[in-house]
Amino acid sequence: MNQLAVFGNPIEHSRSPDIHAAFAAQVDVELTYNRILVPDNEFAPVAQRFFDNGGLGCNVTVPCKGDAWEFVKEAGENANLAEAVNTISLLPGGGFRGDNTDGPGLVTDLRQNLGWSLGDTRILVLGAGGAVRGVLGSLLQEEPSLVHLHNRTHKTALQLVDRFQSCMKPTGQLAAVSKDELEKDYDVIINGTSAGLADQAIDLPPAILGKDSCCYDMVYGAGARAFLGWAEGNGARATSDGLGMLVEQAALAFEIWFNKKVETEAVIRQLRQMETE
Ligand code: ATR
Repeated sequence: MNQLAVFGNPIEHSRSPDIHAAFAAQVDVELTYNRILVPDNEFAPVAQRFFDNGGLGCNVTVPCKGDAWEFVKEAGENANLAEAVNTISLLPGGGFRGDNTDGPGLVTDLRQNLGWSLGDTRILVLGAGGAVRGVLGSLLQEEPSLVHLHNRTHKTALQLVDRFQSCMKPTGQLAAVSKDELEKDYDVIINGTSAGLADQAIDLPPAILGKDSCCYDMVYGAGARAFLGWAEGNGARATSDGLGMLVEQAALAFEIWFNKKVETEAVIRQLRQMETE
């Protein structure tokens, strides 16, 4: 049996086991997929034990993605840019490979599932923590005309921009903006802060929204309500939480482990249905 798992803390609410069970049924793969709680600073020994006991691969979520990047021998470009790994697989010659499918998962959800354009658009990203670091490279690769990064602590946004400017080919599109420097009518606004998880609203000027603005929260479910409610109340054209991103990043992880592509649309629908039941 193929043994997979997701590691994090907290972990009990993770939807990943349901998602991977649905993918496995589609392509006739047999697997077990468990949730594994990682005590503080224990990622490496807990992950090593899982693989020593026959694990085939794992997903990694908050707060272990940085530790997972340290743990692997080899990592993909997205993972190195983010210094964070959300998918670990076995290397043929021994050792572990780390990938980060969060950025491509977000981009797939925005473009394919929601039909929002990214190329040649003006994007505002809120937050400058781990979640944003994980997706910024993928957003920049879509060649938007600008990406503004706005964070409660402006210095952290400046540091993140500096890091990406030096890692990727220097890009004029990316800038950290303070509250006073926020522009009007962004095409796409992505909330990558954890404010909603703590039921906190972000203090934002409504002028950043125009009638064609699309607003996305990388969190799904209740944690996305504060930001998306604000966006709807201020006239956004479209809004979405991050459930599609969760399923798309999982589909890319599944493809890494089994070299099989899976359908995501029905799985997103199924999870939405479970949410309302
Ligand atoms: P994650 O891994 O979820 O990104 P993180 O690295 O701790 O978690 O980052 C949390 C992000 O949410 C940060 O950008 C944080 O802003 P600060 O850098 O100023 O701390 C942001 N954040 C959290 N609560 C917030 C709030 N109430 N209003 C605005 N931003 C908030």
